[in-house]
Amino acid sequence: MGRVTQTTTDAAVLHPASPVDAPWWHDAVIYQIYPRSWADSDGDGVGDLPGITARLPYLRELGVDAIWLSPFYVSPMHDAGYDVADYRNIDPVFGSLGDADTLIATAHDLGIKVIVDLVPNHSSSEHEWFRAALAAAPGSPERGRYMFREGKGEDGSEPPNNWPSVFGGAGWTRVVEADGTPGQWYLHLFDTTQPDYDWTNPEVGDEFVSILSFWCDRGVDGFRVDVANALVKEEGLPDFDGPLQAFDATDHNPEAALPPAHGEEADQPRAPMWDQEGVHEIYRRWRATLEAMPGPERILCAEAWVKPGSRLARYVREDEMHQAFNFDFLDTHWDATQLHDVIEASYRDNDAVGAPTTWVLSNHDVVRHASRLGLDQSLPRPNGIAADQPQPDAELGLRRARAATMLMLGLPGSAYIYQGEELGLPESTDMPDEFRQDPTFARTRGKETGRDGCRVPMPWVRDAPSLGFGPGDGTWLPQPESYGRLAVDQQEGVAGSTLELYRSMLAARRVDRLGLGSASWHELSDDDVVAFVNASPDGSRRTLVLVNLGTEAVELPEGATVTHQSEELTGDGRVPTDVAVWARI
Ligand code: GLC
Repeated sequence: MGRVTQTTTDAAVLHPASPVDAPWWHDAVIYQIYPRSWADSDGDGVGDLPGITARLPYLRELGVDAIWLSPFYVSPMHDAGYDVADYRNIDPVFGSLGDADTLIATAHDLGIKVIVDLVPNHSSSEHEWFRAALAAAPGSPERGRYMFREGKGEDGSEPPNNWPSVFGGAGWTRVVEADGTPGQWYLHLFDTTQPDYDWTNPEVGDEFVSILSFWCDRGVDGFRVDVANALVKEEGLPDFDGPLQAFDATDHNPEAALPPAHGEEADQPRAPMWDQEGVHEIYRRWRATLEAMPGPERILCAEAWVKPGSRLARYVREDEMHQAFNFDFLDTHWDATQLHDVIEASYRDNDAVGAPTTWVLSNHDVVRHASRLGLDQSLPRPNGIAADQPQPDAELGLRRARAATMLMLGLPGSAYIYQGEELGLPESTDMPDEFRQDPTFARTRGKETGRDGCRVPMPWVRDAPSLGFGPGDGTWLPQPESYGRLAVDQQEGVAGSTLELYRSMLAARRVDRLGLGSASWHELSDDDVVAFVNASPDGSRRTLVLVNLGTEAVELPEGATVTHQSEELTGDGRVPTDVAVWARI
């Protein structure tokens, strides 16, 4: 009696179940490691590969399927390694190729797959190709690998077009030619030290296929592809006056209006530097390259801030990439209606091309969700938070973050976890400016705080130098005072801690195959509540995933048995505001 057995109608089915033997990446939980900030083995205050290898058992215990490592390649670190000088070697600050081999082998022994970062839109200005380009003459094959153009105006002193850099300032820099005269300009959508490749040059394409092979030969299981929507630019490089909307929703203007709601974006002019048709040919070639390789299946995951979702889904068509981060979900405010819309649209768009949805709430480019969700939800997401800016409500943010993660991990599909979110780490909001390294901060003259606040080294042990990050006292970015009580050793084995909550959700998700289940809206879903049923692929288990975003506590259906809760329920078993549950029904 009272059991909810038939609460859904066909119209409420959001997403059908996947086969039980679907490929691993359909439901994988992938943990992002930011190598500079996860674990330091040698005490220089910067994380490294041996540090990561030593801590891998922690991730096995956490219950993730794979790791994604942000760049560890040789780099002058003007953009924290997203400025690669040598794609086939490890920066000495992180270790050696031998250390990478050991890391990959150790992860595999522990049953953890390894995804590495591929940065194909630009190299570092210290890459040998760019050095050669600077040394060569205009029109030379060396310059032809990058986007060199003549300037405008009589003496060529104006940039070739009006494109800005995502990090602020102009998107072009003028070079000095060998004879000492001011010369051509080169395009850099990001920092001056990150020149964009010219992907119409076949040499560039061949080089990246060779880089893919190099890392596959070393045993990696896939690639996260940096700014996958940027590689091809519109022919003629026309001026553009619309909003850039890279990963910064505010576009260097914190007072900007909220980005358009779902479905409205289609009317926006398409920016000539993003999401051009030509990128898809590149990914078809890469997919074919990976599939032709012997050994296990390797995947490609697109980092592409592309709107609307139906455009993003084109990156994960059958013969292109396997996954694309669902940034619409990350960008959704704490609002039941918005969450309903984004979840529905995500399944509709991805199911149309047969791809899993790849949920994500935090990464190294955005304010951590434990802080983001504690900010005024009527304002756009800021690019970092400084001490003199509106501060998040830490308690509220963490409460919502735990509920948001319970929602994310209950949704069928794959999910990415950013290091430290399993501890409930907040954004660092009191970092002194002299530590800031994100080029955005300098390029906007501090107008934008930038991303350093989400990149702070992990706290492992409360009473240890650098909170157990490494044997030294110092860390490359200072750890906020609050990180001590959130350290791993403070949460391990503590019932109700964020770490134990993540562990138990990941264990249940694996057993119940939640990532492969079907999803149907539950009748409790309304303007205040997000509620759906995840039915396991064999139909034997039904999990109600419910998040209360309203002001009144919500009564669960009779007979529902709560297995996980993000916070205490009321005395009579109702779900309070900003709390999520998983319940067997
Ligand atoms: C991606 C990375 C970001 C980097 C940018 C330029 O968005 O995630 O960290 O700054 O690309 O490579």
